[in-house]
Amino acid sequence: MKSPFLSLLVAMSKNRVIGKNNRLPWHLPEDLKHFKTLTMGHPIIMGRKTHESIGKVLPGRTNIIVTRQKNYTIPSAIVVDSIQSAFAAGFEKNSAENEAFVIGGEEIFRQTLAFSRRIYLTEIQKKFDGDTFFPELNSQEWHETERTIHFSEGIDQLEYHLITLDRKTPSSI
Ligand SMILES: NC(=O)c1ccc[n+]([C@@H]2O[C@H](COP(=O)([O-])OP(=O)(O)OC[C@H]3O[C@@H](n4cnc5c(N)ncnc54)[C@H](OP(=O)(O)O)[C@@H]3O)[C@@H](O)[C@H]2O)c1
Repeated sequence: MKSPFLSLLVAMSKNRVIGKNNRLPWHLPEDLKHFKTLTMGHPIIMGRKTHESIGKVLPGRTNIIVTRQKNYTIPSAIVVDSIQSAFAAGFEKNSAENEAFVIGGEEIFRQTLAFSRRIYLTEIQKKFDGDTFFPELNSQEWHETERTIHFSEGIDQLEYHLITLDRKTPSSI
Protein backbone atom coordinates (compact mmCIF):
# COMPACT_ATOMS: atom_id res chain seq x y z
CA MET A 1 0.00 0.00 0.00
CA LYS A 2 1.25 3.49 -0.79
CA SER A 3 1.79 5.75 2.20
CA PRO A 4 -0.69 8.61 2.76
CA PHE A 5 -0.12 11.77 0.79
CA LEU A 6 0.06 14.77 3.08
CA SER A 7 0.38 18.26 1.63
CA LEU A 8 0.75 21.67 3.22
CA LEU A 9 -1.21 24.52 1.67
CA VAL A 10 -0.14 28.04 2.59
CA ALA A 11 -0.12 31.64 1.43
CA MET A 12 2.77 33.74 2.68
CA SER A 13 4.28 37.14 2.05
CA LYS A 14 7.84 37.90 0.93
CA ASN A 15 8.85 38.05 4.62
CA ARG A 16 7.11 34.71 5.39
CA VAL A 17 4.13 36.27 7.20
CA ILE A 18 0.97 34.14 7.12
CA GLY A 19 -1.27 35.94 9.62
CA LYS A 20 -1.87 38.92 11.85
CA ASN A 21 -4.30 39.12 14.81
CA ASN A 22 -5.71 35.73 13.79
CA ARG A 23 -6.58 36.93 10.30
CA LEU A 24 -5.02 36.90 6.87
CA PRO A 25 -3.18 40.21 6.37
CA TRP A 26 -4.20 40.55 2.70
CA HIS A 27 -7.31 40.43 0.55
CA LEU A 28 -6.66 37.97 -2.25
CA PRO A 29 -9.91 36.35 -3.44
CA GLU A 30 -8.07 34.59 -6.27
CA ASP A 31 -6.08 32.64 -3.69
CA LEU A 32 -9.22 31.66 -1.79
CA LYS A 33 -10.58 30.20 -5.04
CA HIS A 34 -7.30 28.33 -5.55
CA PHE A 35 -7.58 27.00 -1.97
CA LYS A 36 -11.13 25.82 -2.60
CA THR A 37 -10.26 24.09 -5.88
CA LEU A 38 -7.36 22.19 -4.34
CA THR A 39 -9.06 21.14 -1.11
CA MET A 40 -12.61 20.34 -2.22
CA GLY A 41 -13.43 16.70 -1.40
CA HIS A 42 -10.28 16.23 0.68
CA PRO A 43 -9.66 16.14 4.43
CA ILE A 44 -8.27 19.44 5.78
CA ILE A 45 -6.29 19.58 9.03
CA MET A 46 -6.08 22.85 10.94
CA GLY A 47 -5.27 24.33 14.32
CA ARG A 48 -8.07 25.56 16.56
CA LYS A 49 -7.06 29.18 15.96
CA THR A 50 -7.22 28.78 12.20
CA HIS A 51 -10.67 27.22 12.46
CA GLU A 52 -11.83 30.18 14.55
CA SER A 53 -10.22 32.58 12.08
CA ILE A 54 -12.16 30.99 9.20
CA GLY A 55 -15.25 31.17 11.41
CA LYS A 56 -17.09 28.15 10.02
CA VAL A 57 -16.69 24.55 8.96
CA LEU A 58 -15.68 24.53 5.30
CA PRO A 59 -18.26 22.57 3.29
CA GLY A 60 -17.44 19.60 1.07
CA ARG A 61 -14.34 18.69 3.06
CA THR A 62 -13.70 16.70 6.25
CA ASN A 63 -12.63 19.45 8.66
CA ILE A 64 -10.17 18.14 11.26
CA ILE A 65 -9.51 20.60 14.08
CA VAL A 66 -6.59 20.15 16.48
CA THR A 67 -6.91 21.44 20.05
CA ARG A 68 -5.76 20.52 23.54
CA GLN A 69 -9.10 21.66 24.99
CA LYS A 70 -11.00 18.70 26.35
CA ASN A 71 -14.56 19.88 25.72
CA TYR A 72 -14.12 21.59 22.39
CA THR A 73 -16.79 20.35 19.98
CA ILE A 74 -17.77 21.67 16.59
CA PRO A 75 -20.80 20.16 14.82
CA SER A 76 -19.88 18.48 11.53
CA ALA A 77 -16.15 18.66 12.20
CA ILE A 78 -13.74 16.13 13.69
CA VAL A 79 -11.98 17.52 16.77
CA VAL A 80 -8.74 15.78 17.80
CA ASP A 81 -6.19 16.35 20.56
CA SER A 82 -2.94 15.58 18.73
CA ILE A 83 -1.27 15.74 15.33
CA GLN A 84 -1.12 11.93 15.15
CA SER A 85 -4.88 11.73 15.74
CA ALA A 86 -5.38 14.32 13.01
CA PHE A 87 -3.44 12.13 10.58
CA ALA A 88 -5.41 9.06 11.66
CA ALA A 89 -8.69 10.91 11.08
CA GLY A 90 -7.48 12.36 7.78
CA PHE A 91 -6.52 9.05 6.30
CA GLU A 92 -9.08 6.81 7.97
CA LYS A 93 -11.68 6.71 5.23
CA ASN A 94 -9.45 7.55 2.35
CA SER A 95 -7.65 5.42 -0.13
CA ALA A 96 -3.89 5.70 0.07
CA GLU A 97 -3.94 7.72 -3.16
CA ASN A 98 -6.03 10.47 -1.62
CA GLU A 99 -4.39 13.66 -0.48
CA ALA A 100 -4.97 15.34 2.89
CA PHE A 101 -4.12 19.00 3.34
CA VAL A 102 -2.69 20.79 6.35
CA ILE A 103 -4.07 24.32 6.07
CA GLY A 104 -2.40 26.04 9.05
CA GLY A 105 -1.63 27.98 11.02
CA GLU A 106 1.97 28.43 12.07
CA GLU A 107 1.89 26.02 15.04
CA ILE A 108 0.38 23.24 12.96
CA PHE A 109 2.64 23.85 9.94
CA ARG A 110 5.71 23.59 12.19
CA GLN A 111 4.56 20.24 13.57
CA THR A 112 3.55 18.69 10.24
CA LEU A 113 6.24 19.91 7.84
CA ALA A 114 8.41 16.84 8.48
CA PHE A 115 5.51 14.55 7.52
CA SER A 116 4.50 16.30 4.32
CA ARG A 117 5.37 15.33 0.78
CA ARG A 118 4.23 18.46 -1.02
CA ILE A 119 3.77 22.15 -0.31
CA TYR A 120 1.38 24.30 -2.32
CA LEU A 121 2.73 27.75 -1.68
CA THR A 122 1.18 31.04 -2.69
CA GLU A 123 4.02 33.51 -2.42
CA ILE A 124 2.79 37.09 -2.35
CA GLN A 125 5.50 39.32 -3.76
CA LYS A 126 5.23 41.96 -1.05
CA LYS A 127 6.19 42.30 2.63
CA PHE A 128 3.42 42.44 5.25
CA ASP A 129 3.37 43.05 9.01
CA GLY A 130 2.30 39.98 10.92
CA ASP A 131 2.60 37.79 13.98
CA THR A 132 2.59 34.30 12.48
CA PHE A 133 5.07 32.92 9.96
CA PHE A 134 5.69 29.97 7.67
CA PRO A 135 8.82 28.05 8.73
CA GLU A 136 12.02 28.32 6.70
CA LEU A 137 12.43 25.41 4.28
CA ASN A 138 15.62 23.40 3.89
CA SER A 139 16.59 23.57 0.21
CA GLN A 140 18.23 20.14 0.56
CA GLU A 141 14.79 18.69 1.26
CA TRP A 142 12.53 20.50 -1.20
CA HIS A 143 12.56 21.26 -4.88
CA GLU A 144 10.30 23.54 -6.82
CA THR A 145 8.38 21.60 -9.46
CA GLU A 146 6.01 24.31 -10.66
CA ARG A 147 5.67 28.11 -10.54
CA THR A 148 3.09 30.28 -12.27
CA ILE A 149 2.97 34.07 -11.98
CA HIS A 150 -0.29 35.95 -11.41
CA PHE A 151 -1.59 39.43 -10.60
CA SER A 152 -4.69 40.02 -8.53
CA GLU A 153 -7.53 42.10 -9.90
CA GLY A 154 -8.78 45.17 -8.03
CA ILE A 155 -6.91 48.09 -6.52
CA ASP A 156 -4.17 46.07 -4.83
CA GLN A 157 -2.85 44.43 -8.02
CA LEU A 158 -0.79 42.09 -5.90
CA GLU A 159 1.72 39.92 -7.71
CA TYR A 160 1.58 36.37 -6.41
CA HIS A 161 3.24 33.13 -7.47
CA LEU A 162 1.57 29.73 -7.24
CA ILE A 163 4.39 27.35 -6.42
CA THR A 164 4.52 23.60 -5.93
CA LEU A 165 7.37 22.18 -3.86
CA ASP A 166 7.96 18.43 -3.71
CA ARG A 167 10.01 16.65 -1.14
CA LYS A 168 13.32 15.28 -2.43
CA THR A 169 13.77 12.93 0.52
CA PRO A 170 11.10 10.59 1.89
CA SER A 171 8.82 12.14 4.52
CA SER A 172 8.64 10.58 7.97
CA ILE A 173 4.94 9.70 7.89
N1 LIG B 1 -1.71 32.44 5.15
C1 LIG B 1 -2.12 31.19 5.35
O1 LIG B 1 -2.01 30.32 4.48
C2 LIG B 1 -2.72 30.84 6.67
C3 LIG B 1 -3.32 29.58 6.86
C4 LIG B 1 -3.87 29.28 8.10
C5 LIG B 1 -3.82 30.20 9.12
N2 LIG B 1 -3.23 31.41 8.90
C6 LIG B 1 -3.11 32.38 9.98
O2 LIG B 1 -2.31 31.80 11.01
C7 LIG B 1 -2.72 32.35 12.26
C8 LIG B 1 -3.03 31.22 13.22
O3 LIG B 1 -1.86 30.44 13.43
P1 LIG B 1 -1.41 29.99 14.90
O4 LIG B 1 -0.06 29.36 14.80
O5 LIG B 1 -1.58 31.16 15.81
O6 LIG B 1 -2.54 28.95 15.33
P2 LIG B 1 -3.01 27.52 14.75
O7 LIG B 1 -1.81 26.74 14.34
O8 LIG B 1 -4.09 27.72 13.75
O9 LIG B 1 -3.70 26.88 16.04
C9 LIG B 1 -2.95 26.75 17.21
C10 LIG B 1 -3.77 25.92 18.17
O10 LIG B 1 -3.81 24.57 17.73
C11 LIG B 1 -3.82 23.70 18.86
N3 LIG B 1 -2.62 22.86 18.83
C12 LIG B 1 -1.40 23.17 18.34
N4 LIG B 1 -0.57 22.12 18.44
C13 LIG B 1 -1.28 21.11 19.00
C14 LIG B 1 -0.97 19.78 19.35
N5 LIG B 1 0.24 19.24 19.12
N6 LIG B 1 -1.94 19.04 19.93
C15 LIG B 1 -3.19 19.55 20.15
N7 LIG B 1 -3.54 20.82 19.82
C16 LIG B 1 -2.59 21.59 19.25
C17 LIG B 1 -3.88 24.60 20.09
O11 LIG B 1 -5.26 24.83 20.33
P3 LIG B 1 -5.86 25.12 21.80
O12 LIG B 1 -5.26 26.44 22.22
O13 LIG B 1 -7.33 25.18 21.58
O14 LIG B 1 -5.41 23.98 22.66
C18 LIG B 1 -3.20 25.85 19.59
O15 LIG B 1 -3.54 27.00 20.34
C19 LIG B 1 -3.91 33.26 11.95
O16 LIG B 1 -3.47 34.59 11.82
C20 LIG B 1 -4.42 32.75 10.63
O17 LIG B 1 -5.10 33.74 9.89
C21 LIG B 1 -2.70 31.73 7.71
